[in-house]
Amino acid sequence: MREDGSPPGTIFVADGDAAMLRRLAPVAAAYGLAVVTAEPSDPPRAVVVDVEGPEALHRLAQWRARWPDAIVAGHLASPDRELWVSVQRSGADLVCNRGALAVRLRERLGQPERAGPRRFPLLAAADIAGRLGLLGRFEQTPVGPVALFRVGPQLCAITDSCPHAGAVLSQGELASAVLTCPRHGSQFDVRTGERLRGPADREVAPHRVVEEAGQVSLVLDPDRG
Ligand code: FES
Repeated sequence: MREDGSPPGTIFVADGDAAMLRRLAPVAAAYGLAVVTAEPSDPPRAVVVDVEGPEALHRLAQWRARWPDAIVAGHLASPDRELWVSVQRSGADLVCNRGALAVRLRERLGQPERAGPRRFPLLAAADIAGRLGLLGRFEQTPVGPVALFRVGPQLCAITDSCPHAGAVLSQGELASAVLTCPRHGSQFDVRTGERLRGPADREVAPHRVVEEAGQVSLVLDPDRG
């Protein structure tokens, strides 16, 4: 119990085996938390998921949506890059191998300021090295379909749906930074989303993109969901 009589915060460990629970016990104790293995009714401080378990990504995404302020951590035993990226895309704040989980979670619990904007991985930087123009279309991101471009040295992303009547913008013509909608010819600057020509009467949403540690990701602005 806390001083005010309320129950302690929790680290919810989904499908945790005895070894994992043992490793997490001192981490929880360091922050006055309790380790629980059943879904808590109050939001936990952290959720730990064995992402190689059945339905793990689906459940992780559900917990992410249900507890937006929790640290969602996925661990895996095999060095499976594809799974790793899928875990990040499902909304995990932290992905690491099983042996490193306790240390990484302890660090993360000590850095509440890192709860800031989350990343949604799009692709490996090596896959687009030296390419210009349209680099990819990503149908399912937390902000809807997104098209990624490189214009000069700049990576930029916009919502891949025309604000006029919903055409797929990435199927249009790109000339320098100007993208022409394939349906009725509206034009947008892909670096800023600015509308340059109608019939669309407003800009298309731009999205921030970062390249970090060999990964290109969308920066998810919490105010824009
Ligand atoms: S749908 Fe794009 S201009 Fe009409």
